[in-house]
Amino acid sequence: MTRIAQIAGDGIGPEVMAVARRVLDAAGVTDLQWTELDWSCERYAREGSMMPADGMDLLAEHEAVLLGAVGWPGVPDHISLWGLLIPIRRAFDQYVNLRPMRTFDGVPTPVRADLAEGVDIVVVRENTEGEYSTLGGRHGSGAAETALQTAIFTRAGIERIAHVAARHAAERGGTLTVATKSNGIIHSMPFWDEVVREVAQEYPIEVHFELIDALAAHLVMRPADYDVVLGSNLFGDILSDLVGGVCGSIGIAPSANIDPTRTHPSMFEPVHGSAPDIAGQGLANPVGMVWSAAMMLKHLGKEKETNRIMAAITTTLADPATRTPDVGGLADTETVADALVDHLRSTAPHVESAVA
Ligand code: NAI
Ligand code: MG
Repeated sequence: MTRIAQIAGDGIGPEVMAVARRVLDAAGVTDLQWTELDWSCERYAREGSMMPADGMDLLAEHEAVLLGAVGWPGVPDHISLWGLLIPIRRAFDQYVNLRPMRTFDGVPTPVRADLAEGVDIVVVRENTEGEYSTLGGRHGSGAAETALQTAIFTRAGIERIAHVAARHAAERGGTLTVATKSNGIIHSMPFWDEVVREVAQEYPIEVHFELIDALAAHLVMRPADYDVVLGSNLFGDILSDLVGGVCGSIGIAPSANIDPTRTHPSMFEPVHGSAPDIAGQGLANPVGMVWSAAMMLKHLGKEKETNRIMAAITTTLADPATRTPDVGGLADTETVADALVDHLRSTAPHVESAVA
């Protein structure tokens, strides 16, 4: 049995997690042993912390963590994020944040259909350093009140993420786009460019550096021109939501936080948050969560099941009757779940061989 820690979290987190669990069952994945954890803002309100003091030790006993979403009005977002997600990413050295996104037949996009056709992008985000650091502080008061926030870029940190992005680019279309801002940010970004360039030279790929502001515009104007996009922690975070939006909805976007050394568990979670505005209404799109679960299966070596779940997602999204309103459909969460499960059951390997 492979041990999986489940953190459903807040808002729509538990709603989409329930769908992921049904889909994994329907895909015939029976060798996962689940530890269901109630770590959330609700727990914070009740007990004063997002997770217990020995939480990280408990997670460390698992192969992977599957997470819904955390965050709820009343608990400041920096508390929910720094009390759970960011400690997990850092303590487990999950330095790769993979965020694939593509367009799907039938799913309307806010950009013209001819521009959106065939878009298939992987954002590779550095996940442990960069702009999201605790270095800095607040000083003074009144008009002199000042906040200092220091970004951290290390050679080792840039090299390892550049290797991952370059390897992905070599395995896919052979092109790597690197987000930078070396014109305005004069220390860290020229260093980032220099180290990424050195690493990329070791791979048979074409590398383009683009200033993040222009890149943001180009990703909207000609998204099909991009394949693998590498960004620092902040830039990768923003670009992945942008690409999700271009493809139709952040409700379908998945992500994986990976420790490639496999020393620690990796964590899989949709890009979206807890969506308090639609929580409890049965409107949440479960596809981002289900796709994240499929990425977890791939990480665990279950390629066949991963592909079957992706086929179920593609089929389900193609029909407005089986997709949620955020992607131009009429269905509620339950209807999408039923459609995914039905597709998996009707295409089960034993059914296929019986037909053949
Ligand atoms: P959000 O992603 O929760 O929602 C943004 C918008 O997208 C909302 O209008 C929402 O209804 C819609 N949306 C999101 N996921 C959807 C889905 N699966 N199906 C249909 N519509 C969907 O981002 P927001 O509103 O900025 O944050 C809400 C809370 O979530 C905050 O507390 C925030 O800190 C937290 N958050 C947590 C994340 C995580 O757990 N990894 C990531 C992002 C935000
Ligand atoms: Mg984000």
